[in-house]
Amino acid sequence: MGFQCIQLSKKYSSRQGEVTALQAVDFLVGEEEFVCIVGPSGCGKTTLLKIIAGLLRPSTGQIFYNHAPINSQPRTAMVFQDQGLFPWMTVLDNVAFGLEMQGVGREERRSQAENFLSKVGLANFIHSYPHELSGGMRQRVAILRAFLANPQILLMDEPFGALDSQTRLVMQEELLRIWKEHRKTVIYVTHDIEEAILLGDRVLVMSGRPGHIRMDIPIPLERPRHLANRDHPDVAEIRWQIWKMLEDEVRKELRILV
Ligand SMILES: Nc1ncnc2c1ncn2[C@@H]1O[C@H](COP(=O)(O)OP(=O)(O)OP(=O)(O)O)[C@@H](O)[C@H]1O
Ligand SMILES: [Mg+2]
Repeated sequence: MGFQCIQLSKKYSSRQGEVTALQAVDFLVGEEEFVCIVGPSGCGKTTLLKIIAGLLRPSTGQIFYNHAPINSQPRTAMVFQDQGLFPWMTVLDNVAFGLEMQGVGREERRSQAENFLSKVGLANFIHSYPHELSGGMRQRVAILRAFLANPQILLMDEPFGALDSQTRLVMQEELLRIWKEHRKTVIYVTHDIEEAILLGDRVLVMSGRPGHIRMDIPIPLERPRHLANRDHPDVAEIRWQIWKMLEDEVRKELRILV
C-alpha cells in the first residue's frame, strides 16, 4: 500500500526552448509516511508536487496509488508558501471548505470546522478574515483546512518558507502535533535541511538540471519529535551528509568556485 512515482519526467517548452525540469524520478511513499524533499531552487520540487496533485501532466512516467493506475488519481490537498487561503472567506469558512469538497452539508461542516479550530486554540479567530491574522496563524489555518479535507496524500510546498525563523520552529512542532492526531501520508518540500530532518521519516535529496533524486535517507529519530532532537548526534551527521551533496550545486548557481 502506498504511493509510487515511476520514471517521471517533465519537459516545459518556453521561449528559450525546452527545459527538462524532471528526469527519471522514482520513489515510493508508504501509507501514513512523512517524506520530505529538499533540493536547490529550480530543481523541480514544485513541478513534482503539481504532477502528484494532477495539476500538471508528466511528459513520461506514471504514478500509482495503492496499486491502481493514476487514472484513479489520489485525492490530494496542497499547502503553499502563501496565499493558500480565500481572502473573502472567514477562518471558519476557509477550514470548512475542505469538507465542502467532500459533499458535507453546511451546518455539519461548520460545526466540525469550529470543533477542530477550537481544539488548536483558534476559537477566538473563527470569524476573522485571513488579512487580520499573522502569517503564522494563516499558515496554521491553511494546514488545518488541508487536514480536514481528508486527502489521501497531503502535499506541502515550503509551507513555512515565508515565516520568520522563530515562528517557523513553533509551527514545525505544531504540524507534528496535528499530524500525530490525524495521520496522513505527507510529501513536504523545503529548502531547509534541518526542517526536513526534524519532520520526515525519510528525506529525499534532489539535484537539478535536470531534476532527479540523488539520495533517499531514512531518519532514525524516534517520534514524537521535538526541537531538542536537533541536537542529536545522528542529526548532525545527516545534516552534514545532505549539505555536502547540495553545496556544489548552490555554489555553481552562484558562480562561486572552491
Ligand atoms: N511553466 C513553466 N514553463 C517553463 N519552465 C518552467 C515552468 N515552471 C517551471 N519551469 C522551470 O522548471 C524548473 C523547475 O521549476 P520548479 O518550480 O519545479 O523548481 P523548484 O525546485 O520548485 O524551485 P524553488 O525552490 O525555487 O521553488 C526550473 O528550471 C523552472 O525555471
Ligand atoms: Mg518551488
